[in-house]
Amino acid sequence: MESVLDYIKQNRDRFEEDLFELLRIPSISTDPNHKDDINKAADYIADNLKNAGIDHAEVKPTTGNPVVYAEHCKAGSDKPTVLIYGHYDVQPSDPDELWETPAFEPTVRDGKVYARGASDDKGQVYIHVNSVISWLKSGEELPVNVKFLIEGEEEIGSPSLVPFVQENKDLLSCDMVMVSDTTMYDEDQPSITYGLRGLSYMEVYVDGPNRDLHSGAYGGAVQNPLNALCTMIAKLKNEHGEIQIPGFYDKVEQLTPEEREQYRELPYDEQAYKDAIGVDEVFGEKGYSTLERASARPTLDVNGIWGGYQGEGSKTVLPAKAGAKISMRLVPNQDQDEVADLFKKYMHDIAPPGVKVHVEKHHGGTPVKVPLDFEGLQAAADALESVYNVKPLFTREGGSIPIVANFENILGVNTILMGMGLRSDAIHSPNEKFTLKDYHRGIEASARFFKNLAEMNA
Ligand code: BES
Ligand code: ZN
Repeated sequence: MESVLDYIKQNRDRFEEDLFELLRIPSISTDPNHKDDINKAADYIADNLKNAGIDHAEVKPTTGNPVVYAEHCKAGSDKPTVLIYGHYDVQPSDPDELWETPAFEPTVRDGKVYARGASDDKGQVYIHVNSVISWLKSGEELPVNVKFLIEGEEEIGSPSLVPFVQENKDLLSCDMVMVSDTTMYDEDQPSITYGLRGLSYMEVYVDGPNRDLHSGAYGGAVQNPLNALCTMIAKLKNEHGEIQIPGFYDKVEQLTPEEREQYRELPYDEQAYKDAIGVDEVFGEKGYSTLERASARPTLDVNGIWGGYQGEGSKTVLPAKAGAKISMRLVPNQDQDEVADLFKKYMHDIAPPGVKVHVEKHHGGTPVKVPLDFEGLQAAADALESVYNVKPLFTREGGSIPIVANFENILGVNTILMGMGLRSDAIHSPNEKFTLKDYHRGIEASARFFKNLAEMNA
């Protein structure tokens, strides 16, 4: 594969420019005003692959945002087929005033590109796009069969992708899925993620009087929806960080003593962890370490709360309505709909008199744990080791990639989570970034992965 590696070395600038062009498109999936940008991003990726001479690339409609589907399956039916999955949609950029440079004007500082989507997930998608392009352009035959499925709704829970995968089982048939949408354990310490948490995302609506009331004229006389909501939220967790919803922990898969030992063996500096996010103390469920709590234990967080006067200065008002967005991260064996039902029931049970409570489930995700003993994983681990000269760690992470569970239960295949981001990349936050060195190392690792996998099947 010398000429492939050579091509990768020679084309670093071009790989960066092609990514930056994609980062300039504000393909925010949660905001319907960005529908055109969603389409633009999908077209852009398909065009890049087409121009490089891939056998087939197209933008395919779904019931929601389109997917980019592409394939280059010329290695022969005796060679494995890898489905590369990623997402071109991004989170909103707000609060925009906290960005040092605008979210959709990629800017390089200190070897890192700053932009929304740089790490999550456009930069990581472009690792594989450019790896495949390098195989195609170098004149060497791709040694395995490759398919791409790049979607535009990951950040909103992949609602249209599940039916798409169901309806396109043959098109997407493969031996394994490769995903780069997670992080490395640390700088220069590559890792393969084998566990992701699931999610139930809820919204609670609390209705009180038929209009906002003067807080002097009515205060003390009627229930305040915002106070009521806060009382309810306070009952969701106790002071030890334990979730108080009856039945919440019933199905939780417990960490085994061996797993806990593996967590203890990870190099970890709690002071550095705290310093990086500017807190004096960590907090969470009693009896578990920070890393365990952030990846292998379920949790519940208020993501936003609304109601009442939020403008400058003060306004004496008792709000008519209040609400909160609450997410629960789930671990294996918990079911997103069951947990959502438990949450709903509990919120109704604890609602104080004088308000009406309504609870709705937004999106969700099923937790995953991938087996550690399939050959694709070894091919990826070897590829990372060749590039980083360090053996990758196998870790669990706390985020969710909803479709991964469906690859297992619809397509019947395992997923390799080979993330090249860093925890410090500030994904979903202002000043998201991606280290360009890891972008290029990732392209090489991806190219080597294909080669390793083919050799295992020689
Ligand atoms: N790339 C993340 C998932 C992730 C985050 C993995 C951190 C490992 C560590 C992905 O784009 C994401 O943000 N997913 C959402 C899914 C949700 C909207 C259903 C998440 O986890 O909030
Ligand atoms: Zn994300």
